[in-house]
Amino acid sequence: MDRLLTENTDQEVIVLEKFIINGGNRLTGEVEISGAKNAAVAIIPAVILADEPCTLENVPSINDVAIDLRILRELGAEIKFVNKSTITIDPRPIRDMPVPYELARSMRASYYFLATLLSRFKHAQVPMPGGCDLGDRPMDQHLKCFRSLGAKCSIEHGIVDIRADFLFGTQIYFDKVSVGATINAMLAAVKAEGLTILENAAKEPHIVDLANFLNSMGADIMGAGTDVIKIKGVNRLHGAEYSIIPDQIEAGTFMIAVAATKGDALIKNVIPKHLEPITSKLRKIGVVVMEYDDSIRVIGQGKYDRITVKTMPHPGFPTDMQPQLTALLTLAKGTSIITEGIWDNRFRYADELRRMGADISVDGKVAVIEGVDHLTGAPVKATDLRAGAALIIAGLSTEGTTEIEDIYHIERGYDNMDGKLRAMGADIVKRTVSENIRQAI
Ligand code: EPZ
Repeated sequence: MDRLLTENTDQEVIVLEKFIINGGNRLTGEVEISGAKNAAVAIIPAVILADEPCTLENVPSINDVAIDLRILRELGAEIKFVNKSTITIDPRPIRDMPVPYELARSMRASYYFLATLLSRFKHAQVPMPGGCDLGDRPMDQHLKCFRSLGAKCSIEHGIVDIRADFLFGTQIYFDKVSVGATINAMLAAVKAEGLTILENAAKEPHIVDLANFLNSMGADIMGAGTDVIKIKGVNRLHGAEYSIIPDQIEAGTFMIAVAATKGDALIKNVIPKHLEPITSKLRKIGVVVMEYDDSIRVIGQGKYDRITVKTMPHPGFPTDMQPQLTALLTLAKGTSIITEGIWDNRFRYADELRRMGADISVDGKVAVIEGVDHLTGAPVKATDLRAGAALIIAGLSTEGTTEIEDIYHIERGYDNMDGKLRAMGADIVKRTVSENIRQAI
């Protein structure tokens, strides 16, 4: 949402972007999945650790990546686009300076600049991050890692300031499985003196992708993808060329969209193993999923069965697929129960689905979904990234028109989602609406 001053300065115009969906079309044909958002937003800041340029391929064209690149440019990096999804970043001109406040607070992953600037300059000043409102999102495990490695941390005026004379390897046990803290710990330890052992580490595919990228630069990391990661500090990291893994959550989102529209489509550029937690649940409710080397075919049919699911750290059912699954289950047979095992408040979108006729009751971290015969199109608002995806799925599977506002949430993490859906037969358009608001005083 942008505020623009018209030439007539006593008026302010709000520019809203909306998705308009006329639902009911089956999704067919094929779609190519982009690079993984949650890998890209860790790998791009990691380039700061290299003493030569790096070239990254399969970079998704999403707003969070755009913010990451703007931060790097502000710090002094030189960035060249080889093509739409391939970028070369030269980190050598980067200076030790604070990360701009508004850029840092516009996303969650800005906190990876803490570890990379600390590792390079033994000092980092990064404003507290923003990101999806999923309830309480503390950073205690991140700060615990930095302190364990020898840094002093303070938070003043909304800015996290960490500094160290030097960083030394240590043993870190995570009190909670945390993707972000595991990534920040790897980034801070990769050039520390000696061995760092991370225990109770997160095991998501993007953790493994970052470790593979760092090792391609000369790091010495073992065990990524398990709950014990060992990092032997090295003196330098050289440049590298690296291709980011396909986005497990984007692929899962399209799987559910095809199932919700009773479609039949091929989802390409995926790693089927990364999708196993999603595939097993979809098969259990009656969706046909056929796996190939780097693609999967999804066939939707009839009414789906009810299911009980709890979101868990990988390899459990991913929390980032929870809203999308809920949208699908609103039309299943019987009563489904979804327990959110990671976030305090990730059902805020339930009210928006109720506007479309869904029968969902939420009690804290548990949602009970009574399947209904049909939903109806309605004006709704995306409350966060994956909630927005869930509303798109609900709109696609519903006769009638659904208008989705606040789609900037969706565009933070999905690369050309409306274009990809249109190519599969969906009737979805993006509309920019400028609304004159009250006379500026
Ligand atoms: C990452 O967030 C993802 N974001 C989230 O995806 C995802 O939902 C989450 O991991 C879980 O998979 C990015 O990768 C940019 P956590 P992150 O640290 O790292 C608690 C999306 O839709 N915790 O794994 O912030 C925390 O409150 C986004 O793409 C602490 O208590 O999540 C939560 O309950 C939304 N202290 C749990 O751990 C800490 O210091 C897991 O959080 C850190 C986390």
